[in-house]
Amino acid sequence: MTRRAVCPGSYDPVTAGHVDVLRRAAGLFDEVIVAILHNPAKTGTFTIDERIGYIEDEVADLPGVRVEAFANRLLVDVCTEVGATAIVKGLRGGTDFAYEMPMALMNRHLTGVETLFLPGDPRFEHVSSSLVKEVARFGGDVTGLVSDAVRDALIERLPRPGEVLGDGRPVG
Ligand code: PNS
Repeated sequence: MTRRAVCPGSYDPVTAGHVDVLRRAAGLFDEVIVAILHNPAKTGTFTIDERIGYIEDEVADLPGVRVEAFANRLLVDVCTEVGATAIVKGLRGGTDFAYEMPMALMNRHLTGVETLFLPGDPRFEHVSSSLVKEVARFGGDVTGLVSDAVRDALIERLPRPGEVLGDGRPVG
């Protein structure tokens, strides 16, 4: 029997922490589906196609890994659809644990699908898509935390003089 897992997330954009988890999941399962899903609490920065492309670049050497986006779908339904018996996620620490546990329990409640947590590599403890975007947006160097392609795309999106701040005042 093919052992198949889903690694779900917003991946907006994929970070070095995500890639570490994807690679480790690929070593544990025959097939890994990287599922880009909608998180209602987040607004997107990158398009779905951009996110898919950035992840595909990172996992191109892993034959058992494929990347797909699933619109308007519960994660558990995606797992059923692709025939996955497990969800794999990385855990960076206590805050992640508090955020992930209710989702893991809810997903098990809904269909019985199990969630496996991999301890995040301490080198990427501080790395999240949101923090990387914030740092890059204001000119900080995010080299090594995301691919060079993602870093360059983030630099492209730095606020330009004349762009309006949240309070209506122009930047610069
Ligand atoms: O990378 P994120 O944003 O932490 O990932 C969260 C995500 C996208 C996996 C979660 O929001 C999700 O599963 N969304 C799909 C809809 C769903 O199943 N919601 C109920 C979760 S118990």
